[in-house]
Amino acid sequence: MEIKITKTTAPKAKPEDESKLGFGRIFTDHMFLMDYSNEEGWHDARIVPFGPLPIHPASTVLHYGVEIFEGLKAYRKQNGEIAMFRPIENIRRMNNSAERLCLPQIDEDVAMEILDTIVELEKDWVPHSDGTSLYIRPYMFGNDPHLGVHAVHNATYAIICSPVGAYYAEGINPVKIAIESEDVRAVKGGTGYAKCGGNYAASLRAGEKAEQKGFTQVLWLDGVHRKYIEEVGSMNVMFKINGEIVTPELTGSVLPGITRKSCVELLKEKGYKVSERLISIDELYNAAKDGTLEEAWGTGTAAVVSPIGWLSYKGEEFIVNNGVIGEVTQALYDELTGIQWGKIEDAHGWSHKVC
Ligand code: COI
Repeated sequence: MEIKITKTTAPKAKPEDESKLGFGRIFTDHMFLMDYSNEEGWHDARIVPFGPLPIHPASTVLHYGVEIFEGLKAYRKQNGEIAMFRPIENIRRMNNSAERLCLPQIDEDVAMEILDTIVELEKDWVPHSDGTSLYIRPYMFGNDPHLGVHAVHNATYAIICSPVGAYYAEGINPVKIAIESEDVRAVKGGTGYAKCGGNYAASLRAGEKAEQKGFTQVLWLDGVHRKYIEEVGSMNVMFKINGEIVTPELTGSVLPGITRKSCVELLKEKGYKVSERLISIDELYNAAKDGTLEEAWGTGTAAVVSPIGWLSYKGEEFIVNNGVIGEVTQALYDELTGIQWGKIEDAHGWSHKVC
């Protein structure tokens, strides 16, 4: 596929202090854009200077929220290579999300070539310090210039990139999570398994309330029984209960996280008993009370592996592993980031070399 590249004439200065990167506040010099119409298919693939998108005021995305996105990272490895972590998984998930929202599919090879091209062009923006990476945000939205509620005939695919540090201000220190008992994020049959903007929009009110009470984020219960643990807004969740690692099964309302999948694979290889199953709030509550809840952590591209030190449910607060990172959580963080930064051997072929 031909990608037309127009380079910026005003490159920005790269961040000097990489310890202050935070998450998603600084953007690189360029972005990728490509248009779709039913008549022409995907066309006009281009990389242009980063800047505002002109958008029709009736565009589908502005009225009906037809939008999906992905999040993946490029790393500067110890040997100087720039590599992405399991990008094919993101491409496949994006196409699954697209199917749910009646957005067009992108051929896997084409999608990979696009990622390789933009990351190579922006390679100097991949930060150097430990704990940093280039966060890549591909997104696609319905872009019909009229107000009828139908599957779109026109769409736009875009990619922006942002040098990042830790997602949470806590870094690798344990976060405080409130279990939400009123709002729900998604239901089976809805869009929970798709990575679409609407799922995140639905999560904001509870997230805000939790933040005001001093929590980092909320943990969602299923929308039907209000009983089974699902996920945290920006990450999947795992628990170590009495030696067993448990994570909510993918019932249709939980995001199939790529870090989740990688952690399950790594843990099974290490010989842990890992169960992807329903976990009720009662089971978690009892385990927290009787001391068998040994560790809790979140997994996500942005959050990587993030220990959970405190859980609160209906006003009652539980401390997990004395509020410090647990052994399994630390081992997972070390192994995953070790592979990503090229500090340990990538036995699974997860690291995709860009340049
Ligand atoms: C990611 O981990 O890439 C996510 O999509 C979480 C995000 C909503 C910040």
